[in-house]
Amino acid sequence: MKKILMLSLCALLASPVFAADDPVVARQTIFKQFKKDAAAMGKMVKGDAFNKDEFSKLAAHLDEIAQQPWQHFPAGSASGQAKHKTDAKAEIWSKAADWTKAVDNFKAETGKLKQVAANGDVASIKNQFGAVQKTCKSCHDGFRKD
Ligand code: HEC
Repeated sequence: MKKILMLSLCALLASPVFAADDPVVARQTIFKQFKKDAAAMGKMVKGDAFNKDEFSKLAAHLDEIAQQPWQHFPAGSASGQAKHKTDAKAEIWSKAADWTKAVDNFKAETGKLKQVAANGDVASIKNQFGAVQKTCKSCHDGFRKD
């Protein structure tokens, strides 16, 4: 019994490591983290419990991970081609210049948010958070299946 338990525990611990070898899983894991950061910031922006230090940490984290998903889009990993279920549209590769622009716009806005969150007033922080959200949406509109 103990042995079986140990074995299943090992299988459980090992599975995310194998999953990380899959580029689709790797990028989706990072996007999930985007959502977590954005949701936490969104909550602060909407409510009156705005905590500048907390927000600033989240903005810095988002800017850090904003650099990461794009390396996990190898050719042949679009929806319908990849092993793993993915919402990546073929346009990522067929309109590569537009894709790069969408990535660069996003990174520019998260970089600005990090700056403004550290130095700016609450109104400009909220404003810049809105600008970041727009870049999420506009990329999803063009490059992610709904
Ligand atoms: C430059 C394009 C681009 C930008 C910018 C972008 N995304 Fe995405 N996002 C995608 C693509 C493409 C997928 C589909 C990935 C897949 O399924 O392989 C995706 C998937 C996701 C997912 C689903 C992950 C899953 O569980 O499968 C979430 C959540 C998400 N994005 C949130 C965000 C948030 C929040 C932002 C902004 C802070 C953002 N994204 C910015 C392109 C983008």
